[in-house]
Amino acid sequence: MQTDIERVVITEQALASRVASLAGEIAGGFPDREDGITIVAVLSGSIIFLADLMRCLPMKMRMDVVSVSSYPGATTQSTEARLVADRDLQVSGRDVLIVDDILDTGKTLRLVQHEVARRGARSVRTAVLLRKPSKAPSDVSADFVGFDIEDRFVVGYGLDYNGHYRNLRYIGLLKPELYGAT
Ligand code: IMP
Ligand code: MG
Repeated sequence: MQTDIERVVITEQALASRVASLAGEIAGGFPDREDGITIVAVLSGSIIFLADLMRCLPMKMRMDVVSVSSYPGATTQSTEARLVADRDLQVSGRDVLIVDDILDTGKTLRLVQHEVARRGARSVRTAVLLRKPSKAPSDVSADFVGFDIEDRFVVGYGLDYNGHYRNLRYIGLLKPELYGAT
């Protein structure tokens, strides 16, 4: 697996330290209410970030997940985003923090933000580990951003290419000849 990686973009140490500081920013942005916050995590790319971030957050919280399909198979181009699992999403009256791995074209976050608002959340904010600022549209924003990166398809720390590489401890670039291969 490691031999498929061309270059490390964000090291394991840099991820750990930024996730901890991001948690500090998030904690400062939410009043410590008795009912706490509700995290809505977007599967599957956010899971490693989510697990690390949650454990750095000091306030009471609940957690739920949604699944959005936009990357079919071996492609680095997103298609129309579709909510796949939203049956029991309970956010009515809650302060919600949506957590996703990356803000790319914004289709995924736009969809989830609308859905959470439609279900009556009291407030909706968003945290992403990565953002590709060159692509992010003006109508979709993240309140908390770990790192801005260039517009290249990255893998690791939860992010996949065709289902692989989520278990890498760092964020990296694949060797170019591997994109498009299945
Ligand atoms: P968007 O809807 O285009 O903003 O894309 C968001 C989703 O696409 C993210 O939740 C990721 O799962 C996936 N994605 C976007 N860019 C990358 C990337 O560089 N590597 C891996 N997955 C990505
Ligand atoms: Mg995703």
